[in-house]
Amino acid sequence: MCTSTIVLAVNGERVVVPASFSPSHRLIDVLRSETRFTGPKVGCGEGGCGACTVLADRFDPVTGAVSRATINSCLATIGSCNGASITTAEGLGNSKRGFHPVQEALAKHFASQCGYCTPGITVALAAAADRAAAAEPAAATVEAGGCDSARAAAIAAGLDGNLCRCTGWRPIIDAAREIADLEDLHKHACCCSSSSRCSKALRQQAPGTAGGRQHGSRRVQGPVAS
Ligand code: FES
Ligand code: FES
Repeated sequence: MCTSTIVLAVNGERVVVPASFSPSHRLIDVLRSETRFTGPKVGCGEGGCGACTVLADRFDPVTGAVSRATINSCLATIGSCNGASITTAEGLGNSKRGFHPVQEALAKHFASQCGYCTPGITVALAAAADRAAAAEPAAATVEAGGCDSARAAAIAAGLDGNLCRCTGWRPIIDAAREIADLEDLHKHACCCSSSSRCSKALRQQAPGTAGGRQHGSRRVQGPVAS
């Protein structure tokens, strides 16, 4: 039982964790039972498969900085997420507000079969794309490993903690490569940010532009007051 209220944001929606949850309960359990965002799945339940991957933005009151990391919500305790902003695959984009380029690339390359791993892979790829854009590695071709560029290699490496048991990796890596080919990974913000332009809007503004050719970096949601 919680003696103090745990509050977090999930895809921009305020979630007050019921007192029936202990701070040591898993984040995934709150996501799946107390929110409408059931994209994150429980695969292994022990940090090995990545099906539960979500983004967590946390505010550090000492430094005033917001840190962002992908986390396994099957391992993260709800207590450690107090005040955090959690983004699931649904928060990256949807049919109403426009899909995130990662979602479009995965669909375009048929990179999902049963779909159980897909929400986690989507979040992992989106985070890796943002990291790659921030690091902006040299465009030098990677000699070994079969990747097209350092950026593609970096994005594909972001899938280290994710397993897919039925689609096969080729279409998933093809989607990662397509994301890496986007000209300016920092240029376009995610559709889920109110001040941003989603890929859908960008297509409308630039007729003829192929879907998924613009990359959206995700929003950084502010800390949640408890
Ligand atoms: S369910 Fe969390 S890593 Fe597998
Ligand atoms: S699509 Fe089935 S496990 Fe990945």
